[in-house]
Amino acid sequence: MQTELTNIVGENNFILNPGSQDKRLIDHRGYFHGKASSIVFPQTTEQLSQLVMYCYENDLSLVPQGGNTGYGGGATPDQTGNQILVCLEKMNSIIEVDKVNFTMTVEAGVILATIQQAAEQSNMFFPLSLGAEGSCQIGGNISTNAGGLSVLKYGNTRDLVLGLEVVLPDGRVLNDLNKLRKNNTGYNLTQLFAGAEGSLGIITKAVLKTFPLPTQRCCLMLAFANIEQLYQFYSLSRQQSADCINSFEYISSASLSLVNHGPVDASFPLNNDYSHYALVEFSCSSNLFELEPVVEKILELAFEQQIIIDGVMAQSESQRKSMWRFREAIPETERLLGGSIKHDISLPISKISEFLNAIEIRLKQVTENFYTSVYGHIGDGNLHFNLLHSKESNATKFKQQFEQKLSTIIYELTKELGGSFSAEHGIGQLKLRQLQQYKDPMALMTMNAIKTAIDPKNTMNPGKLINN
Ligand code: FAD
Ligand code: MLT
Ligand code: ZN
Repeated sequence: MQTELTNIVGENNFILNPGSQDKRLIDHRGYFHGKASSIVFPQTTEQLSQLVMYCYENDLSLVPQGGNTGYGGGATPDQTGNQILVCLEKMNSIIEVDKVNFTMTVEAGVILATIQQAAEQSNMFFPLSLGAEGSCQIGGNISTNAGGLSVLKYGNTRDLVLGLEVVLPDGRVLNDLNKLRKNNTGYNLTQLFAGAEGSLGIITKAVLKTFPLPTQRCCLMLAFANIEQLYQFYSLSRQQSADCINSFEYISSASLSLVNHGPVDASFPLNNDYSHYALVEFSCSSNLFELEPVVEKILELAFEQQIIIDGVMAQSESQRKSMWRFREAIPETERLLGGSIKHDISLPISKISEFLNAIEIRLKQVTENFYTSVYGHIGDGNLHFNLLHSKESNATKFKQQFEQKLSTIIYELTKELGGSFSAEHGIGQLKLRQLQQYKDPMALMTMNAIKTAIDPKNTMNPGKLINN
């Protein structure tokens, strides 16, 4: 193997028999610990193509890895020690920024924050934004179809991708690297690889959409008496701002209190007596009208109609950052407290209130020993409905004892209300069982048929997303 890898990628671009403590063999949350026969760092599509071809011919399976920040264990190899982990970090060039076409062409290993900065340097905007943006890679974002903080205005990652280059499971290279916004020439193959979690091939390059750079931003922290009012504000502000909202994030009083009493230093700008809060950000790229007076007028209307009970607008960039800091502190606090039982669900917006009203009673029939932390991208109908152990019990024991029972209750109600058990974090190896349980059988059959057609030997990230 050493000779083959040296011939394909050169002697400095692989690690043979990596130690089990190598951080690339453990997922971000420490749930999955894998083994690998080698970790390979290809530098070009040609090298990767040769590597994959070699694996295909020798029945060796591969696991693609980006920034290793995913929540499903999709980038962690299995326990056999036979798999090859392919890390894209050396394929990290920005190939082209096209200001006329509003596109960027990048290699898959570019870190998301680097793409955001490169767009900004050309007076453009790449809107994908999430807590892990300093370490996740665009190839990983596309493969998980990441959501994040600005889906409301710009869509999920798949909506930001025009074309891809992909090394297929037999090593051949699919070139669909087009910059076209219109291209009705058959199946949209690029979209097949978005959200495929590395199960159909390894993404090597992408053409991304960019947008005009926002020049004005208004950020609000608001308090609501109930979820119905929160959605009244959502409608009012979408309507009256000409849909200038990029983020509409929910913070429950439980998550607020968790951060306020937790180890992360983050300050909240409002009184903490209310039940529901939203961080709402408006933005626009035009200098021909002023956003702030529009947002002020919306606030005035909302106070008049008694839709909001308290609210504040960030008066400076540092206040805006501090509001976002608070929002980002929620998952960080949960992690520092030993982790939570995470649920990343989505619901039709009209059903969220019903879900929140019913769920705790059902959960408490199993145990009273938990706290909730509920937050998320409520403007997208996406809640992070997380459960933490109460002080008397220990986090690991709590998960072992109750995870399956409590999660099933949450997913069953989600299904009853027409929602999804995985809104933005994907499946990986973590939610294979739920996929079998909740996905339509014909959809599963079609997914399996696609996998078998493209990866007949099942050497591309086996056991992830599709459990063949
Ligand atoms: P990895 O974890 O390395 O890989 C993820 C999957 O993609 C794996 O199945 C892997 O095999 C595959 N893959 C990676 N690169 C390639 C490639 N080039 N070709 C083919 N397959 C590939 N997610 C959200 O959606 N929204 C959020 O708001 C959000 N916030 C987060 C906040 C924090 C603090 C953290 C730690 C994570 C968050 N995530 C969020 C989850 C995670 O950041 C995203 O899933 C991200 O898109 C993963 O990118 P990655 O490069 O780390 O991928
Ligand atoms: C977020 O929205 O902060 C993430 O998707 C959830 C998390 O990191 O747990
Ligand atoms: Zn999220």
